[in-house]
Amino acid sequence: MAKVLVIGSGGREHAIAYKFNQSALVDEVFVAPGNPGMGDVATIIDIKVDDYDKLIDFCLQQKIDLVFVGPEIPLCDGIVDRLSAKGINIFGPSKAAARLEGSKVFSKQMMKKYNIPTAKYASFADYEAAKEYLLQQKCPIVIKADGLAAGKGVVIAQDMDEALNDLEQMMCNDLFKDAGKNVVIEEYLEGEEFSLLAFVKDKKVYGMQLAQDHKRAYDNDEGLNTGGMGAYTPVNHLPESAYDEAMNKIMKPMAEAMVTEGCPFVGVLYGGCMLTKDGVKTIEFNVRFGDPETEVILLAMKNDLYETIMDILNDKPIELEFDDKKYLGVVMANKGYPGTYAKGAPINGLDDVDLCFHMGTGIDDHGNYTANGGRVLFIVGKGDSLLEAKTNAYVNVEKIKCDTLFYRHDIGDKGLNHE
Ligand code: AMP
Ligand code: GLY
Repeated sequence: MAKVLVIGSGGREHAIAYKFNQSALVDEVFVAPGNPGMGDVATIIDIKVDDYDKLIDFCLQQKIDLVFVGPEIPLCDGIVDRLSAKGINIFGPSKAAARLEGSKVFSKQMMKKYNIPTAKYASFADYEAAKEYLLQQKCPIVIKADGLAAGKGVVIAQDMDEALNDLEQMMCNDLFKDAGKNVVIEEYLEGEEFSLLAFVKDKKVYGMQLAQDHKRAYDNDEGLNTGGMGAYTPVNHLPESAYDEAMNKIMKPMAEAMVTEGCPFVGVLYGGCMLTKDGVKTIEFNVRFGDPETEVILLAMKNDLYETIMDILNDKPIELEFDDKKYLGVVMANKGYPGTYAKGAPINGLDDVDLCFHMGTGIDDHGNYTANGGRVLFIVGKGDSLLEAKTNAYVNVEKIKCDTLFYRHDIGDKGLNHE
């Protein structure tokens, strides 16, 4: 029987631990550093995601059979290289391969070099040059910080005054700290977004069922970009050709390109895609499971997660299978997110909820859960139709009593409009 260590502390990691815990091949799941809500499926270990020496010691002492990393920061920082160098079995991209997410400039250069469809762009390290270029563009225009910014480093400027201000904030006023020292300025695309996640080992790409995220903070896609405010799977209203196009023109070519460049990708590759009038285009790549897409995709996935990953690592062919249910989840976040917010309000009603992944809970002196993060809870509904899944999710959202939480009311509506 195997021991698995999941690294991370959000809803994604709760879902990953939940899925490993269901495996007949796994007898112990650890999560570091986790959050107090994950105790139902894992043993919580108090080691930070970037305390590599402690993580290595823990893995060696416990004879961990598989390490799975949730968040991008340790991946971009080279956790896979460090742990593999000690003989630890870890599934995820090397530091070099993680540049696909860690640097938007690298990612765009790769797409350009290998003809992978994406928005036209230019990248800059020099503010004056960026400004000069920007002044020649049409609005709306998209400006992206090169480095990691927790899904918040992208601005879509509606007019030139706003664009110039955003550029100055990023490049001169450290809005996104070092992440914004270099920027990508790219064409604004219109269309419907979807997330295609795939298990990848070198040139082999196993696509999962599509999911759709909701990036903006408020209903009707208003407010700032967030890490994601809700998700559902499958996304049946998109044509099957969109899936095939995303696999054949984006995911597989990028996996092959990474092999050609000498930094083969191993792990979960996330294609943030948009179906435009000119076909499917790449909005971004992430080098890990998406949050909150994972929380719904893993519920739908019939395969044993441990067996699947071990087979992929051992170059055994796999076939992914998904059930025929619909899953829809709603993020409950602290008011103010993705900006600043107050922490620590008590959460009541959790015991009455059918299925919930903890994204950012804490625990107070009385053992009660508190709202401790930006995104706090992910409440899931399941159904035979998307409408049923949505209804079930919101019935459960209503059971949560917490003064500081807010949520979107329109998760899944893009799909429902087509049902
Ligand atoms: P990213 O972090 O690159 O995924 O960007 C965050 C969000 O900004 C995306 O999910 C889109 O909603 C939006 N976005 C990014 N790039 C573009 C683009 N070129 N055109 C339109 N919207 C975009
Ligand atoms: N849900 C988007 C992301 O994980 O980046």
